Amino acid sequence: MTLAASAGVTHREVLARAAERLGAAGCETPRLDAELLLARCAGVDRAGLVVRARDPVADRVADSFAALLARRERREPVAYILGRKGFRHLDLGVDARVLIPRPETETLVEAAIEELLPGARVLDVGTGSGAVALALADERPDLEVGATEASPGALAVARANAERLGLAVAFEAGDLLGAGAEPGVWDAVVSNPPYVSEGDRGELEPELGYEPGAALYAGPDGLDVIRPLIPAAAACTPWLALEVGAGQAPAVAGLMRAAGYATVGVRKDLAGIERVVIGRR
Ligand SMILES: C[S@@+](CC[C@H](N)C(=O)[O-])C[C@H]1O[C@@H](n2cnc3c(N)ncnc32)[C@H](O)[C@@H]1O
Repeated sequence: MTLAASAGVTHREVLARAAERLGAAGCETPRLDAELLLARCAGVDRAGLVVRARDPVADRVADSFAALLARRERREPVAYILGRKGFRHLDLGVDARVLIPRPETETLVEAAIEELLPGARVLDVGTGSGAVALALADERPDLEVGATEASPGALAVARANAERLGLAVAFEAGDLLGAGAEPGVWDAVVSNPPYVSEGDRGELEPELGYEPGAALYAGPDGLDVIRPLIPAAAACTPWLALEVGAGQAPAVAGLMRAAGYATVGVRKDLAGIERVVIGRR
């Protein structure tokens, strides 16, 4: 029986069937995904689904839910289907032009929030949806925040997020540090650059196939963007924090030392992975 042809079927039953289908499709959190999608179609939050558990699902809701469920069965990320992703205190608009912000990137934001001096001017390189820059502008309103982005599509998403959230970030289309690639413009640089190695393409979960390749992959060892970024930042700014992939921290720390950062530290994410490398001069 299809979900769309399930007249009289309750929310609870529809959710159970949907979760089963998503589980069979290999989704990691099938019940949660089903709840988020049904809640969207029913125009309620997840708590609202509990209240309606024994109520039949309206035909209109069942039809739209069936369409979203089919997309998720094809492993399209929930964030793209909903067009939204929460990051720190922000509800960001996302679509296939930008990387979906990840929880581990909070480690990068926390490093900047804790270490940057009041009033510091900080540049987010490769801003994507604007996640890092906007979180800093939101949580440290004393900072002057700028952001660069090489992808025009991603930059449009970031600008739209800033406008909707009412947060001030100076966005610039450009490569690496953009026009600010000279001493005295920025006090600090933060970046979550692409860092997945090309060799891992195709071996990762199907959801990543929906995200922009330019936001994920960076050459044979994943360091093709980080390698030019470090000396460019070192020539201009005394503080650089980079998010890196599992196992990349020692190599990135070495690159920072070679570029002139005297003190290099590493922060672990909640999973205990060395996630952020910080260079200080
Ligand atoms: C891993 S995503 C990070 C997006 C966002 N900062 C986040 O943390 O969710 C990397 C971003 O860097 C951008 N990018 C890649 N190479 C770049 C370059 N050379 N200069 C500027 N941006 C670049 C990509 O288009 C992508 O949006």
